[in-house]
Amino acid sequence: MFGKKKHSATVDKDQLELIENAQKRIKQKKRLYIHFVIFLIGAVFLILANTVLGIGKDFIIAGIDWFVYAIVIWLFLFIYHFINVFITNKFMGKDWEKHQLDKLVNQQQQRIDKLKEGFLKEEKIIAQSQVYNKAQSEQVSNEKKNSNELTIIVAAGENNAIGKDNDLIWHLSDDLKRFKTLTNGHHIIMGRKTFESFPKPLPNRTHIVITRQKNYEVPDGVIVVNNLADAIDASRKDKQPFIIGGGEIYKQAINLADKIELTRVHATFEDADTFFPEIDETKWDEVTRTKHDSDGKHAFSFSFITYIKNN
Ligand SMILES: NC(=O)c1ccc[n+]([C@@H]2O[C@H](COP(=O)([O-])OP(=O)(O)OC[C@H]3O[C@@H](n4cnc5c(N)ncnc54)[C@H](OP(=O)(O)O)[C@@H]3O)[C@@H](O)[C@H]2O)c1
Repeated sequence: MFGKKKHSATVDKDQLELIENAQKRIKQKKRLYIHFVIFLIGAVFLILANTVLGIGKDFIIAGIDWFVYAIVIWLFLFIYHFINVFITNKFMGKDWEKHQLDKLVNQQQQRIDKLKEGFLKEEKIIAQSQVYNKAQSEQVSNEKKNSNELTIIVAAGENNAIGKDNDLIWHLSDDLKRFKTLTNGHHIIMGRKTFESFPKPLPNRTHIVITRQKNYEVPDGVIVVNNLADAIDASRKDKQPFIIGGGEIYKQAINLADKIELTRVHATFEDADTFFPEIDETKWDEVTRTKHDSDGKHAFSFSFITYIKNN
């Protein structure tokens, strides 16, 4: 457990080979150096032997003394030795060089393989993240598509009057028809007092009644909640839930709504006791307006106006 870390056999073998080759190389150079010294001494000796001692003085070939031939031949031998050490055998011999080259090629191959592997992994990650990003953006756009449009529907006089004594102040049949058409099949969110102003729940709509009472009793199918947030939550599957009043609920909902379907009744009702909040024209854009004149069935003229929140 606490023993020294063993060096791998390959490293040891390589190092040994390197040392052996270095020693061989030193010997080769040493021998060449000795050869050079001997050559110099030998050449001087040959010159002296001939010129001073007179050895082979008569042995002349083509007018040149024999020792010149001897020195030239020796010089060639020395050059051959020199070439052998520095050029032919170079650093550590051909086998060693080949071995080193193979090793280098192997190492490069391994590096290339690793790079390839890394590249493939990276490619896979990039492809995965692209798929993930696509799924995320699809999810976001689906959520946007699925997000509901909380809509206030209201009929209000020029002074924003909407009711008196827990009842409407006017009877406008085309406005009621429009109310029925727009809210048909949807969730309708209302305050307890508005709910109680109906003789019975309206058909084909899901009623959500807001009250602070804990045991408020309602007919089957009517949902009772204790605050506006729970009412909106209860209607989240509906693409267009409607806030249908009355005054207290409108006040709380106007900042949360996305759209207002207003019927502006062109008259002022001074004796009203319930009012719609002022529509802030900087926050709401009027997108459509249709005028309806007064007639036998409608005591007042009115306009259907649609507002969209502009943020
Ligand atoms: N012109 C129109 O388009 C229109 C539309 C709808 C209604 N109206 C009229 O508006 C009048 C009714 O409006 P309103 O303001 O008097 O009453 P409302 O808004 O219909 O209901 C008020 C009641 O809702 C409950 N409530 C309000 N805020 C709440 C909260 N944050 N948490 C829990 N419960 C909450 C309370 O019930 P509890 O007291 O039970 O706790 C409160 O008394 C009527 O005259 C009706 O005819 C007009």
